[in-house]
Formats: sequence, C-alpha cells, structure tokens
Amino acid sequence: MKTWFITGTSSGFGKELATIVARQSDTQLIAAARHTDDLAYLDVFDATRIEKVSIDVTNESQIKTGVAQAIQRFGTIDVLVNNAGLGYFSTIEESDMAKVRYMFEVNVMGLANVTRTVLPTMRAHHAGIIINLSSALALTTLPTMGFYSATKYAVEGYSDTLRQEVKDLGIQIMTVEPSGARTQWSGRSSQKMVPTIADYAAFSDAITTVSDSVTQAPGNPHRIAQVMFDQANLAEVPAHLPLGEFAYQGGLANLQSIVSEIKSREDLSLSTDD
Ligand SMILES: NC(=O)c1ccc[n+]([C@@H]2O[C@H](COP(=O)([O-])OP(=O)(O)OC[C@H]3O[C@@H](n4cnc5c(N)ncnc54)[C@H](OP(=O)(O)O)[C@@H]3O)[C@@H](O)[C@H]2O)c1
Repeated sequence: MKTWFITGTSSGFGKELATIVARQSDTQLIAAARHTDDLAYLDVFDATRIEKVSIDVTNESQIKTGVAQAIQRFGTIDVLVNNAGLGYFSTIEESDMAKVRYMFEVNVMGLANVTRTVLPTMRAHHAGIIINLSSALALTTLPTMGFYSATKYAVEGYSDTLRQEVKDLGIQIMTVEPSGARTQWSGRSSQKMVPTIADYAAFSDAITTVSDSVTQAPGNPHRIAQVMFDQANLAEVPAHLPLGEFAYQGGLANLQSIVSEIKSREDLSLSTDD
C-alpha cells in the first residue's frame, strides 16, 4: 500500500489526483485542504484508506498536526504532492508587495514547510517521492506573470538542490511544469491587477482575459493528474515533467536561447577566474 499525501485537494489538479489515488485498491490517501468540507467528493470511496486533514500551508502548526495525524494513521508517507498554490497577475512595477509576499508564503514557504515536516519519516523509511507543482512559467516567462514565475523558479531551485541532498537517502524529487490548464488557478486562486500606468497598457488584455483560462486553457486537469500519478509509480521518477505544448515548446525555446547566449560569451565567462 502506497500512502499519498496531497495538499490543496479542494479543486483542480489536487482534486483530480486525490480522486485517482482514492479510486485505486492499493493506495492510501491523506487529502489536505484548508476546509475539509470541500472534500465531500471523496466520500464515495473506501473511507478505511482515506484521511482528510485540515492544512493551510501557511500555518506551521496545522502542517505539523496534519502530518502527525497522517503518520499515526498510515505509518508513513510514500508520496508527497506539494500542489497547493495560487497566482498573481500584474506588471512587476505595479505589483502589490503584500500580495506578492503572501503568494511566496503559499507557493514557496508553504511547500518548503510541508516538505521539511515530511522528510524525517521518508528518511527513516529510506523511501519517498516528493512531487512539487512548479509551472511552465518556471521554464519560460511572460509579461504580467513575473512574481508568479519568481515563486515557481524558486520551487525549481529548491527542488534541484533537495534532489541532490536526498538522492542517497532513497528519496526522489519530481518537479511538474504544467502549461495553462482548466482549473480554478486563473479564476478564484489568482488576483489580477489591470495596469493603470499608461506605459503598460499593452498588457491590459493579458489580464482582463486571464479568467477565461478556467474554461478555455488547453490543459486537461484530469490528464495532467493521471500523468503525475503514472510517473510517480515508476521506479525512477522524472526530475522534471513539463506538460502541454507551452511548457514543452516554450520551455525548450527559452532554455535553448539561454544555452546559446551563455555559449556565445564563453571566453568572457571564463576570463574572470585567476
Ligand atoms: N492551472 C494552471 O494553469 C497551472 C499551471 C501550472 C501550475 N499550476 C499550479 O498547480 C497547482 C494547483 O493549482 P490548480 O491549477 O489546481 O488551481 P486551483 O484549482 O485553484 O487549486 C489550488 C489549490 O490550492 C489550494 N490553496 C491555495 N492556497 C492555499 C493555502 N494557503 N493552503 C492550502 N491550500 C491552498 C486551494 O485551496 P482553496 O480551495 O482552499 O482555495 C486549491 O485546493 C498550483 O501550485 C498552481 O500554481 C497551475
């Protein structure tokens, strides 16, 4: 029996993945949500294999209690999915820094605090998979999404380092980089600031139409959750999992342009060491 612990299971990818995990006969599920009332959809599944825990990822004491509850019920956590997250759409200059700081609290510090609380049981069992929800916007960037990208680039740097630190401890780290998908992320989970500075007026449309992604983005959340589930069941999980055309093509184009720019100044780069 593999035990999955998923944050942010009230909607979107978290809900889809929790449903897939709950439907199996050989898995146990800890479904974390800010409001466990939102998890009634799990009541049709075998309750002996499901624990609902109340966790706001910005609340360290809820994290500790929820993880302890999970370990007491099922013994360990085999797969942790750091899925809870939100967005913020604004030009960088016009961003409200209190809202930006809160997004970092959820997307970065929340993910790090949940991980830090789960790592001891994974180390003790010399086994575990941690899936961190990053974004296509950690492989490339777009105007008005700068601070959101910054949170997800932070998730990538954090995950790439943690991977090196725990690889000999039986723990694997996978970052998932989905393209825009039809979840609540661009709807109720994101704040949107339409530019008021005339110099940025060209970006207004990008923000006024963003909520349309809830119904019109190409990414299918069920397919995305199924791919995450399948990849997590491999003996060796991918380090990075870009999903959707924007993540794959846009991410590759950006990374290739960075590589070629770096290579074009090889002599200059290597000239600064004694
Ligand atoms: N959809 C996309 O286009 C897309 C693309 C790339 C990456 N992502 C990432 O995928 C992840 C899941 O988002 P989604 O697309 O499934 O959006 P979603 O439907 O809006 O789900 C977001 C989930 O995060 C939870 N959450 C927000 N703040 C929280 C907090 N402080 N503590 C605990 N849970 C919290 C929400 O819970 P409540 O119901 O309580 O608000 C909800 O369950 C996020 O990390 C997002 O950045 C999304």
